[in-house]
Amino acid sequence: MAVVGAGYVGIATAVGLAEQGHDVVLVERDGGRLAVLGAGRIPFHEPGLPAAYAAQHAIGRIVPTAEIPKVGLDLVVLAVGTPIDDTGSTDIAYVAHALDQAAPAIASGAACVIRSTLPVGSAMRLGTRPGVVAERLFVAPEFLRQGSALADIRHPSRVVIGSVGDQPDPDALALVTRALASTESPLLVMRAEEASLVKNASNVFLALRLTFANEVAGLAEDLGVDVGPVLEGIGHDPRIGHAYMRPSYGFGGSCLPKEVRSMSTAGLERGLPMYLSGAISEANADHQRRFARRIAEAVGGLAGKRIALLGLAFKADTDDVRSSPAMRLAARLLAGGADLRAHDPAAGMNARRVLPDLVVVSTVEEALRDADAVVVATEWPVYRDLDWAALKPLMKQPLILDGRRLLMPAQVRSIGYQLERLGDGSDLG
Ligand SMILES: NC(=O)c1ccc[n+]([C@@H]2O[C@H](COP(=O)([O-])OP(=O)(O)OC[C@H]3O[C@@H](n4cnc5c(N)ncnc54)[C@H](O)[C@@H]3O)[C@@H](O)[C@H]2O)c1
Repeated sequence: MAVVGAGYVGIATAVGLAEQGHDVVLVERDGGRLAVLGAGRIPFHEPGLPAAYAAQHAIGRIVPTAEIPKVGLDLVVLAVGTPIDDTGSTDIAYVAHALDQAAPAIASGAACVIRSTLPVGSAMRLGTRPGVVAERLFVAPEFLRQGSALADIRHPSRVVIGSVGDQPDPDALALVTRALASTESPLLVMRAEEASLVKNASNVFLALRLTFANEVAGLAEDLGVDVGPVLEGIGHDPRIGHAYMRPSYGFGGSCLPKEVRSMSTAGLERGLPMYLSGAISEANADHQRRFARRIAEAVGGLAGKRIALLGLAFKADTDDVRSSPAMRLAARLLAGGADLRAHDPAAGMNARRVLPDLVVVSTVEEALRDADAVVVATEWPVYRDLDWAALKPLMKQPLILDGRRLLMPAQVRSIGYQLERLGDGSDLG
């Protein structure tokens, strides 16, 4: 089998297939990434994945390579990126290119499954590319979460397989099903466009829940109360639940913001008003701006203020800064004239590449020294578990703004910190 694209999805997929006993070639066009993979390592931070990859690489089950073999493959899995372009549309150029590269293998009998997230309406178009046999082409969106990619690959919440051809080749469908399905996960087989819509709509729904929690948090702040018990009360309704109801100053990452815009664009292109997805994007941008304003107010204006920013990754347990709210916040604080010292357990290097003006330090102590305030921007558990008492004397004033509601309020307040938590208006007095 070949897995094309050695990102979060591609490497986790390759490991999952190799652990089932398949021989996998992992195709990556980036020479730097390929060299890292060839040395038995992976090119990003993802818990558990380095050891799982190294084990399969060491026994020769995963072989990294630069090109898709033309013959001898049973299955080609495409896991290349589908970034958003400047117009808000999802760019499928990498998928189209990879599919063209896979065409000789498909022509010689291989099945092909696209695990990249496609914008709705694009799967059928891909099936008409020269050399592609639509009956052996499938779309099976991946639902893994960065930070738990390996567990999600081993135990998927569901496996959704969509066929591009009207009459899918039964042997090819059986092969794809065997490769992706696990005994404990629900398996759904449908049309390719339906599968793409499952993925798109799932992500938009998650974004909707997060946005809802953030909106209620804003209202609670204004009322001078804490949103924590409010969301707890809401979530006990079995029709609602607690998942994805944790307020923050905005959601980010390479998937959710993109998928919200993608649904908006897909609807508008068809003349459909997309009330919800449009509102989610606007609200998310506003929630991020509002937290930056709250920081500015708390320190009495940003200009010249030394601010420690804890966290740059878009969420904990990843080094990914794509569409990270923490990175947007850093850019805003810098633009306001703050003297920023940022720290992240894993994402520092990626952050420097995106924001070369940002000072990224390697210890929390360096970040906090002489700071007028410290901002918790990513919910890394290591920040919750810091020795906050030992850190306090380093700061100019012991002010914490917790944008992720990560810290234990009673604990840090008992040490003498002034704590302002997002969604807690009682802190504002
Ligand atoms: N990251 C996630 O949590 C996640 C979860 C579910 C679905 N997805 C979707 O899966 C897809 C991949 O996401 P990712 O985050 O793993 O991407 P990524 O950007 O981390 O990695 C993509 C890799 O593909 C390589 N590549 C691109 N074109 C290639 C080609 N023709 N041949 C060989 N290699 C090629 C790139 O160099 C890169 O290393 C996207 O469509 C994304 O939306 C991502």
